[in-house]
Parts: sequence; C-alpha cells; structure tokens
Amino acid sequence: FFRSTTSLPLVGKKALVTAGPTHEAIDPVRYIGNHSSGKMGFALAEALQQLGADVTLITGPTQLSTPQAVHRIDIISAKEMLKETAAHFDNADIVVMSAAVADYTPANVAAQKIKKKDDNFQIDMIKTTDILATLGQKKSSKQTLVGFALETNNELEHAKSKLVRKNLDFIVLNSMQDSGAGFAGDTNKITVIDRSGTQQNFELKSKKEVAQDICKIVVTHQQALTD
Ligand code: CTP
Ligand code: CA
Repeated sequence: FFRSTTSLPLVGKKALVTAGPTHEAIDPVRYIGNHSSGKMGFALAEALQQLGADVTLITGPTQLSTPQAVHRIDIISAKEMLKETAAHFDNADIVVMSAAVADYTPANVAAQKIKKKDDNFQIDMIKTTDILATLGQKKSSKQTLVGFALETNNELEHAKSKLVRKNLDFIVLNSMQDSGAGFAGDTNKITVIDRSGTQQNFELKSKKEVAQDICKIVVTHQQALTD
C-alpha cells in the first residue's frame, strides 16, 4: 500500500489532456491547420496514466497511437475541442492544454469546393473561443490547470501575461529559439513559470522526459492542494 501511493501518486485523480492541431474547414476538401504533431500531449497523457491518473486525451488529427489505458476523444476543429474539453473539465483534477488550437476560423465554410478564379484570394476569418481562458474562469481551488505558450520573441514576458490572463497554475514555455525544440520533433526545451513568477528552466530533452518533468510539478501541486 505504501509503495503504491508513492510510485503512483495520481491514483484516484482524473486528468484531462489536449493535444495536436485543429483543422478549420474552408470547403469540403481544404482546411487551415498548423504543424503540431501531438507528440507532447500524447507523452503527457502517457506519463500521467503511468502515475496512476485516469486520463482523457482530447486530440486533433495526428499520426499517433493511443497510449495504454488512456481514454481518447478525437476532434477536428477548435469548436469541437471547446465542446469536448468543456464537457470533461468539471470532473478533472488536472488539466493540461498542450493542443495548438487555431486562433481564427473561416467565417463561412463553402458547401462546394471553391473554384480557382482571380489572381488574389481572401478568406474571411473570425476569432475562435480561447478554450484555456474559458476553463481558467471556471477553475476551482482543487484543480491544477496548465497551459502552454509558443513564442518567438519576448518569450518570458508573453508567457507570463498568458499565465495571468488565463488564470493558470503553470505555463509551459516552449522555446522556438533552441534548435530541436518545438512542434514536429521528438525533443523540447521548456521553461515552467508558476503564479508567483518562479521559473524552472529545463534542458533540451525528449518529449517523454519533458512530460515527466511537467508531471512532477503537477503531482507536487495536487498534493499541496489536497493535503
Ligand atoms: N489555447 C486555447 N484556445 C485557443 C487558443 C489557445 O485553449 N483558441 C491555449 C493553447 O492550448 C495553449 C495556450 O492557450 O495552452 C496558449 O496558446 P498560444 O497560441 O501560445 O497563445 P494565444 O493565447 O493563442 O496567443 P497568441 O497565439 O497570440 O500568442
Ligand atoms: Ca494562438
């Protein structure tokens, strides 16, 4: 019994993880997407499950297979991701939003394939709902809410402002400045910032190891909340 509570500190906890890109339809054959591979989110879902959590993974289109014993929900668009995350949020003790959600979506989806015509072509886009900010507003004092930030300039300043604006417990800053880090690869270099402004810098590592570093922080936070 003692051994299992220390090696499986998240037994009895529910975790919600989002991963991958969203695809925003333009017409029946085209979409606007991004280069997120989903690897970071899948690694997080796997690591949380291995610590004993009951994990739901809400993912956009990826090439990845579902980690062992993880409950997976596939979505396509930002709107669908909002609907599924909102439906699972209240029951979750731990929420980690690593998905690369589209910020804008086409105002109209053409019913038929758009034909080539003029030399220039514009798509009218409208802002999507910020899922993480919506969850941040609903967050209870028993929940650990973690967001990600992908920045190319003024990284720390931008990440800190997202942490505050979205009412997060932690924000994980993905450094695009270090080679090997970011969207498609197998490695990542992160800085984790908490609400007091404390920063933890990590080395360039595999996404699986990065997931374990994030999990350690989450476990400590959950234990402090429930002790
Ligand atoms: N996010 C979200 N819903 C959106 C956009 C982003 O939940 N519509 C979440 C992402 O999952 C991530 C965090 O917000 O955890 C930060 O995403 P990011 O793109 O870095 O920040 P934005 O607030 O969208 O700001 P910007 O893209 O302008 O930097
Ligand atoms: Ca964004």
